[in-house]
Amino acid sequence: MTETKKQEWNSNLAFMMAMIGSAVGLGNIWRFPNVLYSHGGGSFMIPYIVSLFLLGISFVLVEYAVGFKFKKSIARVMYSIKDKLEPVAWFILLVVFLITTYYVCVVGWDFIYIILSFTKAWGANPDLYFSNNVLHATDSMSGLFTIVPNVLISVFIIWFIAWMIIKRDLNDGIGKVSQILLPLLCLIVVGIVAFSLTLPGASIGYTQIFTPDWSALLNLDVWLAAFGQIVFSLSLGMAIAMTYASYLPEGSKLVDNAVIVAFSNSGFEVFNSIGIFSILGFMTATSGIPFNELVTEGTGLAFVVFPQVFNTMGSVAYILGPLFFICILFAGITSVIALLEGVCYSISEKFLIERKKTATVVCIVGFLISCIFATGAGSTILGIFDAYLNNFALLLAVLLECLIFGWIYKFDDLIETLNNNSKLQVGKTWKVTIKYILPICIAGLWIQGVYSTVS
Ligand code: PHE
Repeated sequence: MTETKKQEWNSNLAFMMAMIGSAVGLGNIWRFPNVLYSHGGGSFMIPYIVSLFLLGISFVLVEYAVGFKFKKSIARVMYSIKDKLEPVAWFILLVVFLITTYYVCVVGWDFIYIILSFTKAWGANPDLYFSNNVLHATDSMSGLFTIVPNVLISVFIIWFIAWMIIKRDLNDGIGKVSQILLPLLCLIVVGIVAFSLTLPGASIGYTQIFTPDWSALLNLDVWLAAFGQIVFSLSLGMAIAMTYASYLPEGSKLVDNAVIVAFSNSGFEVFNSIGIFSILGFMTATSGIPFNELVTEGTGLAFVVFPQVFNTMGSVAYILGPLFFICILFAGITSVIALLEGVCYSISEKFLIERKKTATVVCIVGFLISCIFATGAGSTILGIFDAYLNNFALLLAVLLECLIFGWIYKFDDLIETLNNNSKLQVGKTWKVTIKYILPICIAGLWIQGVYSTVS
């Protein structure tokens, strides 16, 4: 407990890298291209940028201000505001922890693909390989009793890596790892994008990003999709920014930091999507498969379509393939440690357990839950977890935080905290956004999520 109190970033760079690392994740690499493509292409950038400013940066600022002002974990913050609010914090942390358990599993799948990519060991039919050797999906829940050994091992490895980082001192663990992995990740992505632009057919892909469908702007779904992407991509509502900001030393420029983090995260996903689209354009040009059939979301894109592309590529794929999957690994690990930090911080502060012990217990329990995803029923359960936790629980967390900090807490104190040292300042517009606009937008997104899951 005393140890968690002493924690402070040793540089603003460590904080920024950890923050950007927490935001840049699987969502940036494989979720964004699909969301962009299916919601108007180039014109999607308008609702996206509006959401980034109006909602993304605004909400990150709430978490920054609260974390920085209280210098406590979310559980203690909620308790300090009103003791009856503490369960809200534990609900949010439970959601974050459960999301981590399946996020680790997907990073584990990626780990398997790094190894496979050196020899294109997925064979001539990556689709079949993925379902037979990774998902191993059975139709019924009886699949719970069939272990998929390669997934189990890789899930263990990712939890082990996360534990090794989290159990260390803040600067030695998260700080150092983020400052190594993030620049490496950016370097690899720049290399991949530069190479992808030289591929024949690349323009079939990247022009999609710059070809607008203006009618899409009149569609409410497009606006909600932009907003949803910002929530997911900036990891809003998960107490990550709050936790990291609570470790900032006095005098930190909060607003300036938030703007840089948000722009870096969005810059990363837009830039990365140029590479993804160009590679898919190459596939369309060489194989004749229509472009729209290739832009699938998430795991389908990374573990089926990309291996198919690498199969058509010749020997350059033996370099490009591993680099692509290593990118996903780096982006995934920096997000996993961020998800876990808030959970560990709250537990160690509440129960007075030292950092190392908390990290060990959390990682062991997390690993045991993740084992469910390494069974024959794993992918089915993962789909259910993903749908409910992301569509409902996460949005509920953002909504609750908006209402608590906007309406129950003395909001003007937060404005003062933010404006103290920053060049950029916040004021009335921010207050209106948090109190009214953001809750309305989240409620809209939530209702849409309920509707599409039920129907
Ligand atoms: N923002 C990160 C990503 O895009 C981390 C994240 C993890 C977001 C889990 C939501 C859920 O992957």
